[in-house]
Amino acid sequence: MTRDDKPFTLDDFSKARANGRKIVMVTAYDHPMARCLDEAGVDCLLVGDSLGMVVQGKADSLSVTVDDMIYHGKMVRAAARRAFVVVDMPFLSYHISDEDALRNAGRILRETGANAVKLEGGQSRAGTVARMADAGIPVMGHVGLTPQSVRRLGGFKVQRDADAVLADAKALEEAGVFSMVVECVPAGLGHRVTSVVAVPTIGIGAGPGCDGQVLVLHDLLGLEESMRPKFSKRYAEMASLVRDAAGRYAAEVRSGEFPGEGNSFR
Ligand code: KIV
Repeated sequence: MTRDDKPFTLDDFSKARANGRKIVMVTAYDHPMARCLDEAGVDCLLVGDSLGMVVQGKADSLSVTVDDMIYHGKMVRAAARRAFVVVDMPFLSYHISDEDALRNAGRILRETGANAVKLEGGQSRAGTVARMADAGIPVMGHVGLTPQSVRRLGGFKVQRDADAVLADAKALEEAGVFSMVVECVPAGLGHRVTSVVAVPTIGIGAGPGCDGQVLVLHDLLGLEESMRPKFSKRYAEMASLVRDAAGRYAAEVRSGEFPGEGNSFR
């Protein structure tokens, strides 16, 4: 990854695509992790509503609220010096009416200081996205597997209806998204979406043909052990590291080795 200390801006998404430079996105939910990711040179931090699963321990993201997103979004925004920060709009925060969507997106941007919001869905959300874009709100789209529709989709499954995914992607592009996540589609379809739309695509389980990639932080770090999606890759085994460190601490407290002289005041 090339490091560059200038903030990653909205324009940098299209510039990266034009220059063939892959966009690197990772989810973040709190200050210390966001700071490490920012310092590592990650371009974009996504405060994903996946926090419902990886932070709150739920089976899906449906119970996450706008207030939850704002709480986590503020911490991530405060830590990011260079990275572009996108905050997810949670389930039912943009479905009831365009007015509701505008109000919730406005709250998220104002109260967190994030650069953009992300929402799920294609053709059915295009009208709402157009209203938001018209109001000056930068919107990232999300097509393919849309986790907020997990109950209708019947589970977290690879989406193979190429016509539907392509039509969703085109509808979002026309509505004015600046970029879109493409989740859990066959690699060939990820590549096709990227060739038919003019905005950068960020893949997760969509193969190498997208303009960038995103991973859920807890998958990347090996902190989430209850599932191991085929499309993710562990770059560390942090759950083991945490268990090991906490186990050594517990043993030292029990044996009286901690606190030692060096950890005590005279
Ligand atoms: O909520 C999330 O973390 C996401 C990513 C999976 C793209 O939307």
